[in-house]
Amino acid sequence: MPERPYFIEQLITAKEIAARIETLAKEIETEFYNSEKLVVVGLLRGSFIFISDLVRELDLCTEVDFIETSSYGNNTTSSREVRILKDLRGEIEGRDVLVVEDIVDTGYTLSHVIKLLESRRPRKMRTIALLDKPSRRAVKINSDWIGFEIPDNFVVGYGIDFAQENRNLPYIGKIRFADNGENN
Ligand code: IMP
Repeated sequence: MPERPYFIEQLITAKEIAARIETLAKEIETEFYNSEKLVVVGLLRGSFIFISDLVRELDLCTEVDFIETSSYGNNTTSSREVRILKDLRGEIEGRDVLVVEDIVDTGYTLSHVIKLLESRRPRKMRTIALLDKPSRRAVKINSDWIGFEIPDNFVVGYGIDFAQENRNLPYIGKIRFADNGENN
C-alpha cells in the first residue's frame, strides 16, 4: 500500500453497523408491511455497501435501482448545484420507494433527490441514511431513518471514500491527518 499523509481511526465497527442494520430493517419492514414491492433506491456511489447489506436484511419483496448525483459548491452564495449523472432505470409512479443515502451532511443532495423523486409521484417514499452530521446541515431536511449520528468529522469506509479510496474498509473510520492529528 502506498504511504498516505493521514491515518484512519475506527469510529464505528463492522459489528455495530451490522447490528444497527438489523434493527433498522425491522422498522422498515413494519413501515412497508403492506407493500406489494419496495423499490430500494441507492445513491451512488457511497451507499453501495450499505444498500447491499440492508436489502439482504429486508424480509420484503424488493427491487433495487440506483441514482447518481454530483454536486458543485458555490462559495459566494453557499448554495450547491446538484446534478443527476445517472437516473433511475425504472418508473416509481404509484410505487413504494426507500431512498438509501450514505451520509447526510449539508443535506443538499438528499433534498434535491427527494424533490426530484417526489415529482414522479410515488405512493409512499421514505429515506434512510447510514450516517448523519446534523451540525453541518444547510438545508432543512432529515432522513426518516438514521444509522448513526456523528460529529463533523470526515469519515471513510463501508462504501464511503476519500478521493475515491477507502470504500473497501469494513468499518467507518475518521480521517486524521498526520500534521496536526485532526481532520478539522
Ligand atoms: P450533502 O449534499 O452535503 O448532504 O452531502 C452528501 C454527500 O457528500 C454524501 O453522500 C457523501 O458522498 C459526501 N460526504 C459528506 N460527508 C462526507 C464524509 O465525511 N466523507 C466522505 N464523503 C462525505
